[in-house]
Amino acid sequence: MKTIIKNGMVVSPAETYEADILIDGEQIRCIGRNLADEEARVIDAAGKYVIPGAVDVHTHMDLQAGSSRAVDDFYDGTVAAACGGTTSIVDHMAFGPKGCDLHHQLAEYHRLADGKAVIDYGFHGVAQHVDRGILDELEAMAEDGVPSIKVYLTYDFRLNDAEAFQILKRMKELGGVTAFHCENHDIVEYCRRTCVETGRTDPIYHAKSRPNLAESEAVARVLSLARLAGDAPVYIVHLSCKESLEAVRDARRKGQKNIFVETCPQYLTLTEEKYLDPDGLKYVMSPPLRTASDCEALWEGLACGDIQVVGTDHCPFNFHKEKQLGKDDFTKCPNGAPGVEERVPLLFSEGVLKNRISLNRFVETVCANPARIYGLYPQKGILQPGADGDLVILDPAAEWTITHDKMHSAVDYTAYEGMAVKGKIDLVMQRGRIVAENGAFTGERGAGRFIHRKCYGAE
Ligand code: URP
Ligand code: ZN
Ligand code: ZN
Repeated sequence: MKTIIKNGMVVSPAETYEADILIDGEQIRCIGRNLADEEARVIDAAGKYVIPGAVDVHTHMDLQAGSSRAVDDFYDGTVAAACGGTTSIVDHMAFGPKGCDLHHQLAEYHRLADGKAVIDYGFHGVAQHVDRGILDELEAMAEDGVPSIKVYLTYDFRLNDAEAFQILKRMKELGGVTAFHCENHDIVEYCRRTCVETGRTDPIYHAKSRPNLAESEAVARVLSLARLAGDAPVYIVHLSCKESLEAVRDARRKGQKNIFVETCPQYLTLTEEKYLDPDGLKYVMSPPLRTASDCEALWEGLACGDIQVVGTDHCPFNFHKEKQLGKDDFTKCPNGAPGVEERVPLLFSEGVLKNRISLNRFVETVCANPARIYGLYPQKGILQPGADGDLVILDPAAEWTITHDKMHSAVDYTAYEGMAVKGKIDLVMQRGRIVAENGAFTGERGAGRFIHRKCYGAE
């Protein structure tokens, strides 16, 4: 099957230009003016932007978190992703049984995703303890297409500094990336305990018990460990506040290399006042929502390139079910919120059309940079000959309102209910097949493929 996308404005991190795109089979064959091919179906994109299929490197499909399980499996979650313009995800594995090796969770995640995902997918490993066996196994994980691993500094299977340092060192030797959830566990636990002991159990205390400085202290510490490990590639997930961004800037000012930073739409567009609403439990996620001045700092960081990636941390629990575990005590509420479908339109509308970031930066942060950092580039994240035929046609003029009934996740709410958005996704293509059109899923269960990712820097 051949397709020509005609007359669109093609967007890359570097430029925006009018061109046609010829997709032959699964890949882009050429990009140019006045392309023609008798066998090709033609899709008119005049007046629209054509961007690469977006890449979301922070999702949690089918995540088991304590007694609750995230409600999107790899089918529902990737249908939602596809409808929102995302054609590749790299999912963060859940913790496995105590003491399990890295391949235990890799096998489990292949079982969860293979035959279900409707878009292409990869996995990040998760380090839940460190010993010689785990350090040795990192190489086999990279060979198996998983050259990245996540370390949590809080939650049950958090690592201590020495363990995190060993992972950073070994990942550097292998050319892999270590991702970190940064929060100072002891401080957060102390604050949470104190809140509960003093009867402050409403959702707002979720935010109050996880202060900005508890995050930024952990960010600064992780950056020091990465520096000690020889500027090991380090990726800070879901950075949410200005103090953390300052810690990143400080490290870079001192010359540290290989630091990558991700934020998420919720930290750019929502604030902690949400916790005061009757449905405040919907927003219980870690780190928590912050203040308007944090949002502003993050937009500035995104605009100037200090933040490289916008991921989602998509981790949905139903408000009327799992989230209600926290109705009398926020510490019992499963952490996480949906967002995989909302990311691309939200960032375009709130970022590009409100002049906070350029169109090219938008494409860089939701498509190219995540692909580059995590070894999917240039197969993914860019429109160029030889790349996969993954693209999105975006109508910049269409206006709509985000409501739950338009979303495709299995969860019972959207965190952005009622938000007016300009810019609508007309069509989404993966490897030459249309997987979403006019807000409806048109793809196929199990059509997504595992992406065998390369090490950092290898193209
Ligand atoms: O609250 C969150 N973010 N839940 C998902 C797991 C994580 O910390 O990324
Ligand atoms: Zn996290
Ligand atoms: Zn996460």
